[in-house]
Amino acid sequence: MSSLAGRFVVLGVSGGIAAYKSIEVCRRLVDAGAHVAPILTESAQRFVGAATFSALASEVAHTSLWADPDRIPHTRLGQSADLILVCPATARAIAAYRMGLSDDLLTATLLATRAPVVVAPAMHTEMWEQASVQENLTVLAERGVTIVPPESGRLAGGDVGAGRLADPATVVDAAHDVLAGRPYQSHDGGHGSEPSGSVAPGTDLAGLRVLVTAGGTREPIDPVRFITNRSSGRQGHAFADVAAARGASVTLITTSGLETPPAAKVVRVETAADMHEAVTARWPETDVVVMAAAVADFAPAEQADNKIKKADGWDSIELVPTADILAGLGSSKSAGQILIGFAAETTDVAANAQKKLVSKNADLLVANDLTEAGAGFAGDTNRVLLLSATGEPEQLPLQSKHDVAAAVLDRVVELRRSQT
Ligand code: CTP
Repeated sequence: MSSLAGRFVVLGVSGGIAAYKSIEVCRRLVDAGAHVAPILTESAQRFVGAATFSALASEVAHTSLWADPDRIPHTRLGQSADLILVCPATARAIAAYRMGLSDDLLTATLLATRAPVVVAPAMHTEMWEQASVQENLTVLAERGVTIVPPESGRLAGGDVGAGRLADPATVVDAAHDVLAGRPYQSHDGGHGSEPSGSVAPGTDLAGLRVLVTAGGTREPIDPVRFITNRSSGRQGHAFADVAAARGASVTLITTSGLETPPAAKVVRVETAADMHEAVTARWPETDVVVMAAAVADFAPAEQADNKIKKADGWDSIELVPTADILAGLGSSKSAGQILIGFAAETTDVAANAQKKLVSKNADLLVANDLTEAGAGFAGDTNRVLLLSATGEPEQLPLQSKHDVAAAVLDRVVELRRSQT
């Protein structure tokens, strides 16, 4: 039998374009046997009609603290509820709930309940990425609220990005899981939350500003030629994907033409000097740096304005060292900032990586052996040795670059927990 059968579910609808999808959520909850009591905020009613919910739900839709047939509607609804599901949850509804405001029927009911609460946010990408929104969700998740993260896709007005309400079936599954006392498993396959007291799926990096560098830099010799390396950018882009999917506000500084996560801010660079400038400018406002780029250690001292001709003769190129970006960040790190370095080696992997961890003052160092099959620049897999400034080295299995990123970001979550 469905865990929803016979259960009293308050369905809170706040005012966003995704309110229309909540009609489908309502229908699915009723079909699963739940008693559904809808509450529509004033702005929700600008998008959908209370009559629609009244017709589909188990009782008339509630719209006001004051004009309701119930004498004290928020306490009746809050106390009767086995579950409150806010879908869609706007940035305002999330902020009000986090703050404990009770200025309308929905927020008052959220305060007047001991029932578990599921929140399904939906908003434009810029709003979703705001530190305030992410921080509010993190706090709610820490209080045991289950967050059903939005998806990436087409938004109102034709924009594309993160913030689209999760599929109604996914939202109802979350309600189902919570009522069954199961940790909700996000549809992206990972990071389910505990029923209470832990960070929710898809949002365990919410509020974190993560800067990722990716790809090999290109150091021009003349307008035609450059010096570069074999880095594809795949591992860095996988970090950006996974961090964004887990709620971080991601800036990706990349030399690669690979696809970028829609929610990330992308800065395209070419040279080590460009990358240095782009990273250091953002460093003070960054919590975690993932320095996955293969930065050239040397660049031509001069770039010729015109193509160098064979007839000009060419016996050497004078090279000058580039700035070590990671070492520079490591020497100016503030409390709480986390630095992740990389080491792609062909010999003495562990020893070389350990030296880099220390000399660059990184918190984590992700090392791989380029001579191993399936590890390194090309391809979608990697096998890395993870070194930490505070713990034991850990050899991770051969796995997809996304799974490597997820495992390393799990360590970031642990590190941050240990810092507080
Ligand atoms: N790195 C950097 N700036 C550079 C060179 C490297 O920030 N100019 C970073 C890389 O992004 C990586 C880490 O430092 O995270 C290690 O890079 P690697 O090239 O392996 O180390 P190097 O210090 O260049 O050492 P070596 O060339 O001796 O292996």
